Amino acid sequence: MSKKTKVLTIFGTRPEAIKMAPLVKEIEKHSDKLENVVCVTAQHRQILDQVLDLFNIKPDYDLDIMKNNQNLWSLTSDVLLQTKEIIEKEQPDVVLVHGDTTTSMAAALSAFYAKIPVGHVEAGLRTFDKYYPFPEEINRVFTDSISSYYFAPTDKACENLIKSNADKSKIYKTGNTVIDALLYTVNNNKDNLSLNLQPDLKTILLTSHRRENFGKPIREICFAVIELIKNNKDIQFVYPVHPNPNVRKPVYEILEGVERVHLTEPMEYAEFCALMKKSHIILTDSGGVQEEAPSLGKPVIVLRDTTERPEAIEAGTVKLVGTDKNKIISHVQKLLSDKNEYKIMSEAINPYGDGLASKRIVDVLLNL
Ligand code: UD1
Ligand code: UDP
Repeated sequence: MSKKTKVLTIFGTRPEAIKMAPLVKEIEKHSDKLENVVCVTAQHRQILDQVLDLFNIKPDYDLDIMKNNQNLWSLTSDVLLQTKEIIEKEQPDVVLVHGDTTTSMAAALSAFYAKIPVGHVEAGLRTFDKYYPFPEEINRVFTDSISSYYFAPTDKACENLIKSNADKSKIYKTGNTVIDALLYTVNNNKDNLSLNLQPDLKTILLTSHRRENFGKPIREICFAVIELIKNNKDIQFVYPVHPNPNVRKPVYEILEGVERVHLTEPMEYAEFCALMKKSHIILTDSGGVQEEAPSLGKPVIVLRDTTERPEAIEAGTVKLVGTDKNKIISHVQKLLSDKNEYKIMSEAINPYGDGLASKRIVDVLLNL
């Protein structure tokens, strides 16, 4: 009998978990040929556990590294040192990491030091600006430079990899696994919202957590919400607030108690999907939400100045607006009043995937 390929998957934050969950499930289906080992760093704790529970993933290793208001230096060294132990013990044939977080970058480095090939899921995204987003742009460039297999979601991501001299024969266009996760979740869960929303009001969903938006930008976003609420009696905002203290503090200081603004804890993924479906407009600085919303036919206003996800802008469903208060207000106001503009932004096709990305990645793993 030929030896199974041992796949060690390492992830640590909520978005990585959502995007790796369908892949872990797909690897499990091929237990005759693939040995599945899952390690979570728990760079995030509570919001990672929400995803592990939803997808019923029981990690083989849980490094439990999250500290309150952690810094990049200690996070990087904790991931690097603790994954070393796991990689040395397991001796996998390939290590899979996802995207652009500190967990991905440090786990890829750890595998490289052990001379184990790395497969990068969601490879090839770029803004070409090293500080935007910070530190994610350098995390993904670095992870790509270490990787041996590139699972790129789009043509654009493939082009970026080719430009950076990645081995062409190891670049696989797979689509983004977030669409696998989204379709699985909306098809297998009821639209249960525990939140008491007013049914006659239009719901605007807001999320924000990026490091480069800490301070003034996040406050500008909150002041834009207050003004929009004042000017439009027929809208309500829902803001599931990220647990990062640099987000929670200003958001609660400015928005707590404002009428028709619902501040909530981070939502479990199935409930968040139900909320996206219910929303009229989505305002976000999240990468994942930008990729999901087009599948649900929701216009997205991106609260950032740069994006590594230009495809949805080209498709017409996403607008890059930034964090200037007046710009946010005028774009939302236009979407609220201009039916034609709303229709154009809500009808685009999703450029990020078809729900089969995990299958394509596993096909590659089966033929390593
Ligand atoms: C991280 C990623 C970012 C990703 C984001 C997704 C890095 C450097 N940043 O940013 O790329 O877009 O996750 O959400 O990898 N916290 C909790 N409970 C949790 C999660 C976080 O309390 O379940 C708090 C902790 O105080 C923690 C802080 O949030 O120290 C920051 O977490 P961290 O992972 O460092 O940064 P994020 O802003 O979440
Ligand atoms: N999400 C969630 N609950 C929330 C907010 C977001 O499940 O309260 C999901 C969202 O649908 C997307 C992912 O989390 O799949 C995005 O994570 P985040 O915005 O934290 O990170 P990013 O994608 O920007 O790295």
